[in-house]
Amino acid sequence: MSDANIENLLHEDRLFPPSAEFAAHAVGTQALYDEADEDYVGYWMRQATERVSWFKEPTQTLDDSNAPFFKWFADGELNVSYNCLDRHLENGGEKVAYHFVGEPGDTRTVTYQDLADEVNRFANGLKSLGVKKGDQVAIYMGMVPELAIAMLACARIGAPHSVIFGGFSADAIVDRVEDSQAKMLITCDGAWRRGTIVPLKDNCDIAMDRAESLEHCVVVRRTDHGVAMTEGRDVWWHDLVDGQSAVCEPEVMNAEDLLYLLYTSGTTAKPKGIMHTTGGYLTGAATTHALVFDIKPDDVYWCAADIGWVTGHSYIVYGPLANHTTGVMYEGTPDFPDKDRLWSIIDEYGVTIFYTAPTAIRAFMKWGAQYPEAHDLSSLRLLGTVGEPINPEAWMWYHLNIGAEKCPIVDTWWQTETGGIMISPLPGVTATKPGSATKAIPGITAEVVDSDGNPVPLGSGGFLAITKPWPSMLRSIYGDDERYVNTYWSTYPGVYFPGDGAKIDSDGYLWVLGRVDDVMNISGHRISTMEVESALVSHPAVAEAAVVGVTDDLTGQAIAAFVTLRGGFEESGALLIELKAHVSTKIGAIARPKSIIFTPDLPKTRSGKIMRRLLRDISDERILGDVTTLANAVVVEAIAEQARTKADRD
Ligand code: PRX
Repeated sequence: MSDANIENLLHEDRLFPPSAEFAAHAVGTQALYDEADEDYVGYWMRQATERVSWFKEPTQTLDDSNAPFFKWFADGELNVSYNCLDRHLENGGEKVAYHFVGEPGDTRTVTYQDLADEVNRFANGLKSLGVKKGDQVAIYMGMVPELAIAMLACARIGAPHSVIFGGFSADAIVDRVEDSQAKMLITCDGAWRRGTIVPLKDNCDIAMDRAESLEHCVVVRRTDHGVAMTEGRDVWWHDLVDGQSAVCEPEVMNAEDLLYLLYTSGTTAKPKGIMHTTGGYLTGAATTHALVFDIKPDDVYWCAADIGWVTGHSYIVYGPLANHTTGVMYEGTPDFPDKDRLWSIIDEYGVTIFYTAPTAIRAFMKWGAQYPEAHDLSSLRLLGTVGEPINPEAWMWYHLNIGAEKCPIVDTWWQTETGGIMISPLPGVTATKPGSATKAIPGITAEVVDSDGNPVPLGSGGFLAITKPWPSMLRSIYGDDERYVNTYWSTYPGVYFPGDGAKIDSDGYLWVLGRVDDVMNISGHRISTMEVESALVSHPAVAEAAVVGVTDDLTGQAIAAFVTLRGGFEESGALLIELKAHVSTKIGAIARPKSIIFTPDLPKTRSGKIMRRLLRDISDERILGDVTTLANAVVVEAIAEQARTKADRD
């Protein structure tokens, strides 16, 4: 984000207090802040015992004896799928869990009873293939109900899942499976995307051949386009569940047993397996879902994220189901068959709460208000955003065109690592400011600190810090405790460091500005510069590569790559296209560079470190800073010149 934008944000003084009517019936109240301020551990314990059903109630709350390896509710026993399903069945099995809308137009209504039956059958199916408590299961699927069913079945039998976003490549599956040592991969034959088929099973075939730990691949028939099935290794989902009993006793899990891994990008090329455990995670997901989204029994709630990211884990699956909420699940893209698809779904199902990403809102803005105007959106009463800073223009557009000036907007800041929302308005309490995630929610303490870790005065900037542990926090990085400690807990001892820059204004409102490390945020998704660089240098033509995130009107940031070629290779348009495709193959389309500039050399310090800051300045067309410390200052002007002519061409 440029300095000018930061300045603009800080002059943002529009204030939107909740209406008296909304406040009068809100789930989240000022009293919760007061309670948590008094005793945050006691507050979380109360949430844990009131919102979660335990086989054995915990007596322990926060265990900080081995910080930063914190534990929560460590002597409690429970099962997450029991909490999401069984306990709702007696008086609520007929309630709809998901209104599923397929991209081609097919729909399915899945009640809590349907979901429970399917989960039990599939859990028995997994057991029949030899999956036991503690075994790891990888899931690589499109947005279909079976994805939630697979996750819940894993939770039921105590097998941690690791969901891999369906847009990632075969190589990305292999990396993650090799790290988790998953023995099972669950997928679909294909996924629908803008009328075409994403060949998920083909990618899994590559992974099945390469990742030795994998024994079986279970395949949901979705696109029915004819895929190869390897006898003895691959099993159709429908064959696996056929004849299975709809009763599978939930495994008794300890609160600190692993529920799932979710891989996310860090500052190195190797993704981190973020570990979420059972009792604290469910407490956090259920509490934040109820309070931030003001969930009432008759709401129709729609989180339009993909379950392949943490947003979908916490706010499509675990939080909403634990709270017995009716949700919408949509398979496809917002612009298929036309740019009003989301609005037509809101109209048809009477959606009351809608949660999406700023990048999507900017796309809606670009397409124009005529698309939402063509539909009745009057059922909406609350809107949310997540994933990246929202610019005030996009916030106002959302407020006017989707929220009809009456829906509070919750701008929710959190991360894969935090498991649940951390900084957000409570919609019945907090007066919102466009572009600010406002303040930490009850039970969470966030500060903005300087480089020594001291809180900055109101009106200044620094680094975001979370100063107390919370129940849904990550417990470690799978197989790498040292990286966990170094990444999150070493910058300021005793304090969690999320890696974001932030400002705190004169009212104590927080403005999260973006990453301060080498992690980019593309359409609200984290991609590390190192990951893309190592994908580029794995191409035989590339000697060296540097990658930076540059400001982009639609996606927040876009990837700009600078590449030096090996001797014997010539720059060409064809090679440029090939390199972009190569990154897509290595990581996935989301990591495909928007621009690649060939350069004979990269700007480096005398000690050989690539000066990414300079490359960012060049890409964002800022005045270049001091280059006198460079070993090869002359290359900078040459690259800048190329970038300018490239911009002219584009
Ligand atoms: O930089 C922050 C940004 O997204 C990062 C977390 O990315 P990820 O783990 O992929 O999770 C995204 C969905 C929870 C953060 O470190 N971010 C997320 N939400 C916001 C945000 N930046 C500003 N405002 C937000 N509301």
